[in-house]
Amino acid sequence: MNQRTYIMIKPDAVARGLVAPIVARFEACGLKIERMELGTVTREQAEANYAEHEGKPFYTGLVAYITSGPVVKMVLSGPEAVMVCRKLMGATNPRDAAPGTIRGDFGLTLDANIIHGSDSAESAAREIAIFFGE
Ligand code: RTP
Ligand code: MG
Repeated sequence: MNQRTYIMIKPDAVARGLVAPIVARFEACGLKIERMELGTVTREQAEANYAEHEGKPFYTGLVAYITSGPVVKMVLSGPEAVMVCRKLMGATNPRDAAPGTIRGDFGLTLDANIIHGSDSAESAAREIAIFFGE
């Protein structure tokens, strides 16, 4: 089933100059780049994107972090794109993420974990609306 998903390269990865190798991973497996844009995340967008985590101990830091510097926002498409991208990204905590995954190869800490990807088709539609207004 062809699907769209929302992917965001987080501020630490952009600051470290990792945009090209990360985008290359998605292209290499055949996913199509539908939209791609460098920009910042507003507080409103961050709160909407992470609404499910409101009230959790890490929520305030998460919103501060994702709004702290430029990110790369993308819409990728392909067969089962949501699941395929989560697999390429690896486990949420880079220390648990397998070698060969984006988080496993480029990250070390849970808060600065390199990349965000939608966790379901419903989340993807919601997040694409938040960040691209579609
Ligand atoms: P994301 O939403 O960023 O793609 O990551 P995810 O689905 O793999 O993980 P999720 O549970 O949605 O958590 C969102 C982000 O919050 C940070 N986090 N910190 N300190 C903690 O216990 C904790 N748990 C999650 C991570 O940066 C995670 O990406
Ligand atoms: Mg999530």
